[in-house]
Amino acid sequence: MHAPHDHAPHGPSSCEPSPRAEAANGHAQDEPSRTAAQPAWVSARNASTQSAAPGEFRALAIGSLRVWPPVVLAPMAGVTNYPFRKLCRRFGAGLYVSEMISAKGYLRGNRLTRLLADSRPDETPRSVQMYAADPTEAGEMARSLADSGVDHLDMNFGCPVPKVTRSGGGSAIPLKPRLLANIVRAAVKGAGQVPLTIKVRKGVSDELPTFLDAGRIAEEEGCAAIGLHARTAQQLYSGTADWDAIGALKSRVRSVPVLGNGDIWEATDALRMLRATGCDGVIVGRGCLGRPWLFLELAAVLEGRPTPRPPNLREVCAILDEHARLLIEFFGLEMGMRQMRKWCAWYTKGFRGSSAVREALVRVETLEQLHAALARLDMDEEFPMNALRAIRGKAGAQKQVALPHGWLASRDDDAPPCALEGEGDAGFEDEISGG
Ligand SMILES: Cc1cc2nc3c(=O)[nH]c(=O)nc-3n(C[C@H](O)[C@H](O)[C@H](O)COP(=O)(O)O)c2cc1C
Repeated sequence: MHAPHDHAPHGPSSCEPSPRAEAANGHAQDEPSRTAAQPAWVSARNASTQSAAPGEFRALAIGSLRVWPPVVLAPMAGVTNYPFRKLCRRFGAGLYVSEMISAKGYLRGNRLTRLLADSRPDETPRSVQMYAADPTEAGEMARSLADSGVDHLDMNFGCPVPKVTRSGGGSAIPLKPRLLANIVRAAVKGAGQVPLTIKVRKGVSDELPTFLDAGRIAEEEGCAAIGLHARTAQQLYSGTADWDAIGALKSRVRSVPVLGNGDIWEATDALRMLRATGCDGVIVGRGCLGRPWLFLELAAVLEGRPTPRPPNLREVCAILDEHARLLIEFFGLEMGMRQMRKWCAWYTKGFRGSSAVREALVRVETLEQLHAALARLDMDEEFPMNALRAIRGKAGAQKQVALPHGWLASRDDDAPPCALEGEGDAGFEDEISGG
């Protein structure tokens, strides 16, 4: 789990990395450890963040898994499928979690759900995130995935989507600690020897915090770790993540690792989060959208090396091309290219002229069309520093969380919520994405 790589050339000739750039990356990797402030390739926000001292951070222990560096790719619906996980792994090291997989769809054998949960023999460790609101289904799914050879299971209890919380699912579940405990207990039992973690938000709102209860339940029910996206469900993705809450959870949860999540846009942000909160590892979400080399940077800075130079546009296009080929191989041409459209916007974000070609990029149906659109850009352009902290994926305003009638009046009740309309159907994962 520890193999940073250079950007490998796979793309058309216009997208191949220049020898100069490869040399620069190799050089950055070989630089000695040091404890000075960060050099170039970091934003002003992190200019004075001190480099990691030797031995400052430890490998993350999730059950019997040892994860070094202590970095986890956040589960993201429509994003962290096998092709993207493979790409991220090529750059860095850590644990790469699948997108959320609905228990109903999985247990019914829904073809798309099964494909999203799928992997290839080269993926180790293999990690899957489950979504279940019913203990029986959680247990069955965990057992089935454990039997199929997964190495790690995660459960999503942070989904803020109104359709889900309105029926009592997602981030509404931790409001009922006995229900949460029942689901987690069944899943841990089903998982057997496979370590199972949970991922939660702070609560549905500031008035209804649940993360400390969730931490206690994670410890009591045998979870291998707990991850906290330090926003409330009401916040969705707005504002900034409350790293103090991660620190508060870490000071309360003693027997299992705590993973901090929210607003790691640059590798050096991980240093700051680990130091500020004392958490055991970081979960990285939107920052790697269109920037899978962020995992190379994370591996470098957590080992005390400087942040490597980010790829120029030629190198970015080679990575984009590799990503497209992986998606096509896995999902087929039509679905692979359809997925690629959103990735094009993320990969080219901030580069000069990218908005002019975006219209063509969001329509591409073939690799040839993709290459033709990209060929209109200046391949020698360096990575734009103003794109480092540019929000990708999801942003947006707060939204009142919808709960079922009477949900708050019966918090001691442990009856599972009713199934959602369409739960288990194709595309359900994308429809209720978030956590
Ligand atoms: C497109 C997208 C899809 C997401 N899907 C999931 C999901 O399936 N399961 C989950 O637990 N969280 C999901 N999330 C939330 C992320 O895992 C993460 O908690 C959140 O983005 C905050 O981390 P960040 O600030 O590093 O992005 C999703 C986020 C995005 C942007």
